[in-house]
Amino acid sequence: MATDLRPSLPVVDHTPEPYNGPSRDEVLALRHQYLSPGIITYYREPLMVVEGHMQYVWDETGRRYLDAFAGIVSISVGHCHPKIVERVREQAGRLQHTTTIYLHPTIVEFAEKLAEKMPAGLTRSYFTNSGSEANEIAILSAREYTGNQDAIALRNGYHGGTSVPMALTAEGTWKFKSNNTTNIHHTHAGYCYRCPYGLEYPSCDLKCAHDVKNVIQYETPGEIACFIGEPIQGVGGAVTPPMEFFGIVYDIVREHGGLCIADEVQGGFGRTGHHYWSHQNWDVVPDMITMAKGIGNGAPLGAMTTTARISEVMKNRLHFNTFGGNPVSMTQGLATLEVIDEENIQQNALEVGTHLKAALEDLQNKHLLIGEVRGLGLMLGVELVRHRQTKEPAKSEAADVMERMKQRGVLIGKGGLYGNTLRIKPPMCLTKDDADYLVAMLDEVLTEIEAGHKKIQAG
Ligand SMILES: Cc1ncc(COP(=O)(O)O)c(C=O)c1O
Repeated sequence: MATDLRPSLPVVDHTPEPYNGPSRDEVLALRHQYLSPGIITYYREPLMVVEGHMQYVWDETGRRYLDAFAGIVSISVGHCHPKIVERVREQAGRLQHTTTIYLHPTIVEFAEKLAEKMPAGLTRSYFTNSGSEANEIAILSAREYTGNQDAIALRNGYHGGTSVPMALTAEGTWKFKSNNTTNIHHTHAGYCYRCPYGLEYPSCDLKCAHDVKNVIQYETPGEIACFIGEPIQGVGGAVTPPMEFFGIVYDIVREHGGLCIADEVQGGFGRTGHHYWSHQNWDVVPDMITMAKGIGNGAPLGAMTTTARISEVMKNRLHFNTFGGNPVSMTQGLATLEVIDEENIQQNALEVGTHLKAALEDLQNKHLLIGEVRGLGLMLGVELVRHRQTKEPAKSEAADVMERMKQRGVLIGKGGLYGNTLRIKPPMCLTKDDADYLVAMLDEVLTEIEAGHKKIQAG
């Protein structure tokens, strides 16, 4: 009898509940009828996900998928992590809602735990329901604190979908014409693979980082409120700058009166492996850190943490966030931080991430479609190009890779201005076996696509 030697998803000790809800087609039809068409789905045939356990999710037919995109980088320690579920259940049954106008223990316990993880001096947190709101508070605080208006962000960055974060975002695909927020400027990111000057690191002398000085001198009155940047760009496709990039930018920003904000919405909480915060990879200390996604393992939770001094400005006027700091989200956030420590999640991100990145780099030697593999820990990107010399973005191929990976039971994301970078940012409980399965499937998929594609050349 022939044995099937094809790799399969690692065994999991979890059986999904039978699904008895509306069919996928019914859900899709209702969605078309009742949801804003602006709410996008992935895949030609949108996937319905009805159950999750750690790094896996199940569709309504009981089929299992490796969730190598973690929702969208939101599941830090695993879907429905048992400890977190238990704590949230207990809290929801005891007190589901109160606001910050009353005292509650969990919000302060969570803030204390967060402060323990922060660089020295960053002790004061403002909790929100999303990363966009956290960034709104950060920019507002910087403007109040400095008395300056101008904020600078990085090209290819993403900071959210509300007004100011959308203006900070610098990928045209995510910007609406009608969102004309002023006093926001963009400087170059440390995107060496597509260097805007056509230079090479390190002989470039970090021209991209120094450009922030030109932006300040030409586009602002010379004194600015702040700079905000993702230490590794998430939506932009795991763009990882050279070591010195952020140090140079932070120095110039501070010389011009600005505060430095690290958007850790995707890179925080150990995801990049060596450090708890992704900015620590660059040896810089921000004045404010904004967070969301992985902070709450899927809870609608965001935060901005800053110094006592800067935080004082939020007393300038009345400010309130009805659901920010609610006991259920706080419980989920606190339990998530505990699990990250108890289960050595950061160490796992380092070990499995290093293993996975090395395997992806091996694939790069084999597949001409892979222009660059980048990122740290479990925040990885694989940029696909049609030609290694011209670096023509392989946009439709990236979409095709996603479809074919899904057929093989692996969910990944894509990003970058051209949507040609595969984004691999799984729950940080990913195992080496999961990583090996993912790479084996990507190898198969790229082989298939390259076989049918004459345009991909070595250059
Ligand atoms: C780096 C970064 N900042 C901010 C946000 C906005 O977060 P939210 O979607 O929770 O508003 C995102 C979302 O993807 C993000 O990736």
